[in-house]
Amino acid sequence: MKVLIVYYSLYGHIARMAEAVAEGAREVGGAEVLVRRVPETLPAEVIAKMGAAEAQNELSKVPVCTMDELGSADAVIFGTPTRFGNMCGQMRQFLDATGGLWMKGALVGKAGSVFTSSGAQHGGQESTILTFHVSLLHHGMVVVGLPYSFKEQGRMDEITGGSPYGATTIAGGDGARMPSENELAGARFQGKHVATIAAKLAR
Ligand SMILES: Cc1cc2nc3c(=O)[nH]c(=O)nc-3n(C[C@H](O)[C@H](O)[C@H](O)COP(=O)(O)O)c2cc1C
Repeated sequence: MKVLIVYYSLYGHIARMAEAVAEGAREVGGAEVLVRRVPETLPAEVIAKMGAAEAQNELSKVPVCTMDELGSADAVIFGTPTRFGNMCGQMRQFLDATGGLWMKGALVGKAGSVFTSSGAQHGGQESTILTFHVSLLHHGMVVVGLPYSFKEQGRMDEITGGSPYGATTIAGGDGARMPSENELAGARFQGKHVATIAAKLAR
């Protein structure tokens, strides 16, 4: 049972969340977990101006997801930073290259799930995940979120990401805030939850 985690991350917040999602998925017996990134589309000079050159040196070591890997996965968990309340362009571009898989119905009946990150607490995390779900539904995927059985998404004693739509983290306006323990716990929960459902669907 293959669980694919495929993401884009400019500064590393989504990459850190992806590691936690993978940890959670690996807890499920029989799960083979693959972590991949989508191709970069921004020119190097723009990345440098965005202050992300150093982070990208590290993040670009993660292998780029192939269409074969996407098509052969039993479950796919997508990670994207919020861009104007939507998924990032790199992820959109990646999805727009999946027409061949769509024609074959390669993802029909497979679990699909999304996690995200935003600068501001109310900067569009929910709209990013919910609008992403539209693409998953066009592929015929079974949309999976982060159920309220992960109770800590409702914590009021600290600022935290996490919603029934999926795990999230808040990076802060300057990107200085890395995912908190609670947000990482939500990501692990989502990974385990999706892998558990994928195992049931694959049976
Ligand atoms: C072009 C652009 C648009 C963005 N739009 C939003 C937004 O709508 N709401 C928000 O809270 N943060 C926004 N951000 C901040 C990013 O979401 C934040 O940098 C990202 O979540 C950090 O994740 P990463 O380190 O994995 O890239 C935007 C950033 C950029 C560069």
